[in-house]
Amino acid sequence: ATNRTFTMIKPDAVANGHIGAILNDIIASGFRIVAMKYTKLSPEKAGEFYAVHKERGFYGDLVSFMSSGPIVAAILEKTNAVEDFRALIGATNPADAAEGTIRQKYAKSIDANAVHGSDSDENAEIEGNFYFTAFDKF
Ligand code: CMP
Repeated sequence: ATNRTFTMIKPDAVANGHIGAILNDIIASGFRIVAMKYTKLSPEKAGEFYAVHKERGFYGDLVSFMSSGPIVAAILEKTNAVEDFRALIGATNPADAAEGTIRQKYAKSIDANAVHGSDSDENAEIEGNFYFTAFDKF
């Protein structure tokens, strides 16, 4: 079925000039942009977005990195969106990401890993609604 996922182009990929290339890969892979925003997370908002990881050792670094510079947030639509997007971006650690994936091409480390992709339909909905209201979704 056609469904949706949520992504962020993270501060490293924005700073390194990869917004255009990443959006191009996403669109060329058949995703339709439903909503999109260029913005920056405060540490408070980044902490809230990643609250599920609060108890993890990497939480502090994750929050400071994700609030270190602007990002692009977007809701994407495609058949099998969540799974196909995770295949397009590759493994969380770019060292393990398959050839041709976005993280293999544009990411440097597990923290600065270029893009976020939702891990379930339920989280895609929650994460998209963190940034966008019904009026922003086309
Ligand atoms: P993301 O999928 O956006 O969500 C959590 C982020 O935490 C993840 O991408 C990684 O960038 C970062 N991270 C850092 N260390 C780890 C780890 N050991 N396991 C999973 N994610 C990690």
